[in-house]
Amino acid sequence: MARKPRQHVNPLSARYLVPRAHRIEPPAALGPDPPCDVELGCAEGAFSFALAERDPERLVVGLEIRERMVARNQARARALGLRNLVFAYANLQVDLHRVFAPRSVDRFHLLFPDPWFKRRHGKRRVVSPYLLGTMARQLRAGGEVHVASDVFEIALSAMEAFDGPAGAALGFESLAPGGPWGFVRDNPYGVVSRREAITLRRGQRVWRLRYRLAAPPENP
Ligand SMILES: C[S@@+](CC[C@H](N)C(=O)[O-])C[C@H]1O[C@@H](n2cnc3c(N)ncnc32)[C@H](O)[C@@H]1O
Repeated sequence: MARKPRQHVNPLSARYLVPRAHRIEPPAALGPDPPCDVELGCAEGAFSFALAERDPERLVVGLEIRERMVARNQARARALGLRNLVFAYANLQVDLHRVFAPRSVDRFHLLFPDPWFKRRHGKRRVVSPYLLGTMARQLRAGGEVHVASDVFEIALSAMEAFDGPAGAALGFESLAPGGPWGFVRDNPYGVVSRREAITLRRGQRVWRLRYRLAAPPENP
């Protein structure tokens, strides 16, 4: 019987620091440069499956550090015949830069990213200067980053990264109705991740951020 995927792994343990993620090429049926959404830390991939089913012309990629989870999702996507849906291993703190060509992604979704919310685990948080810089290189001009969390402290630290000087220098502009340092109430993408569904069912608040890459750096 297949073993259950582990609940959590430490992305900074020696095993996960070795870069081994691979470049993802769009499936031939979608043409060379299809619209592309990426779910970062997708777990069982509910958001990715729903998006791929709704929009068959769009390449949807779910990236996850837990390899058993990746294998399960790949098998399910094959069984459903979803040829626009790709699941792959990546450690978002180490090797995302290997996965996509510059200016090939339209939207990154970082949804309920982080089980490490205690202060002493701060350095394991997924939103890092490496991740921001990599997304800024891989997004197309006008591309988006969508972050959501049920943990206010995590959302706030992501906001600090994007709305602060480093995020602004990379070209990120807030899409919050009130401008920078604001949250976005509604989910405009029409599909929800498993964790978002659970949070809403519990009547809890989703702390959502959206950014557009307004002015990509000259030399990716
Ligand atoms: C709480 S789950 C959220 C899953 C899904 N996005 C959702 O909203 O339902 C966070 C996921 O991110 C993954 N993750 C955490 N750190 C990661 C990293 N450095 N690289 C890749 N995935 C990571 C975890 O393994 C876990 O599956």
